[in-house]
Amino acid sequence: MQDIILRGEVLHFLRDPGPDDDAAAWQHWPDGYVAIHAGRIAGCGDWAALSAPSLAAANVHDHRGRLILPGLIDCHLHYAQAGIIGAFGRQLLDWLQHYTFPAEAAFADAELARRTADFVLDRLLAHGTTTAAVFATVHPVSVDALMAAALARNMRLIGGKVLMDRHAPPALCDSAERGAAESAALIARWHGKGRLAYAVTPRFAPTSTPRQLQLAGELYASTPGLYVQSHLAENRAECQWVAQLFPGRSDYLDVYRHYGLLGPRCIYGHGIHLDAAQRQLLAASGTALAFCPSSNLFLGSGFFDYHAARQAGVAVGLASDIGAGTSLSLIRTLGDAYKVSQCRQQPLPPLRGWYLATLAGAEALRLEHCLGNFAVGKEADCVVLAPAATPELAFRLQGVTSLAERLFALATLGDERCVAATYVAGQQVGRSVPPAGP
Ligand code: GUN
Ligand code: ZN
Repeated sequence: MQDIILRGEVLHFLRDPGPDDDAAAWQHWPDGYVAIHAGRIAGCGDWAALSAPSLAAANVHDHRGRLILPGLIDCHLHYAQAGIIGAFGRQLLDWLQHYTFPAEAAFADAELARRTADFVLDRLLAHGTTTAAVFATVHPVSVDALMAAALARNMRLIGGKVLMDRHAPPALCDSAERGAAESAALIARWHGKGRLAYAVTPRFAPTSTPRQLQLAGELYASTPGLYVQSHLAENRAECQWVAQLFPGRSDYLDVYRHYGLLGPRCIYGHGIHLDAAQRQLLAASGTALAFCPSSNLFLGSGFFDYHAARQAGVAVGLASDIGAGTSLSLIRTLGDAYKVSQCRQQPLPPLRGWYLATLAGAEALRLEHCLGNFAVGKEADCVVLAPAATPELAFRLQGVTSLAERLFALATLGDERCVAATYVAGQQVGRSVPPAGP
């Protein structure tokens, strides 16, 4: 296979730049390259440093005037909710009853599941998102459709069947034993196939009996590399409900701890209403959080404290949380993350924001050994952004010379219209604007 070299402005992160945008945490080449060999990163750096023979042998994709970043990573979304994005809000529990559960009930239909999975994954790629942690529904066919669609696109994707055995319509409930058996069959079918991994997926504590949570914890411990994904402390009424349902547990997080659902590769959406001790337990156990700002604003759930979570050492990735979130675009979501951080009086700085959308996602999903930046040997998932893709951005960016200012404007005014190309394991998959160059 011929090597590919992407030419353009290159930016990637080596670690979290922190609250002061530490300049040693990223690398940036205004005229740079990313070299790809057999689907993996072979190198990156200054274009001028490339030798003539290596250039002559490669297929050069000229993205000058554009920004090449590692593929964006969405740490939490529900693909079956694509059809109810923007359904009139109220708050979480009401929204679940009125919109989410009816929409998910339709995913007993394998054909609907296939069509929706194809649509959502194609749209994720068009939005520059190359990896995601995805909730299916309670139906095993909904997982089959999701995993088959990801496999066909060679995407690194984490997914799982929702476990729910109470407080949901009968059509959406499994039982503790059936849910565990169906999950085990799906693990056997999909976990480790291609770039796929399976996540044990109890929806959230209120919709699982203690027995179901116990079996979920046993399942997580049963097979190396399995994930757990769920929801935690999103909404105040939800937190009160959990306290009523689990009177023996000291708080919401203690429910998951009790059932063995904390640890590496466990990732929880939201985590808004937490105290310092809970953040400490998340960090100490290696459990990650998915920051879902647009969803949190849409459902009025509250303002996630990103700064406090990171200060406590919790891994945090960015997430659209479709369909409570209102866009698949992690660029728009990053803009919302900034606004939410402002409401916490800890504005997310520009470089740290783009770290959050890339390497931080890989870290939260424990995929930093293979994704998240352009280190040699990692899988070549990349997004190419056209910073001045809209008239407003072009106007705004006139005369802007600082990288930080440009990145900040891109996060605030940018969206999927800025995505010029997406590469999955070195293969270009999306072309929403024509290629640059002569
Ligand atoms: N909590 C439990 N289920 C859901 C869901 O589908 N979306 C969101 N945002 N929160 C949840
Ligand atoms: Zn969610």
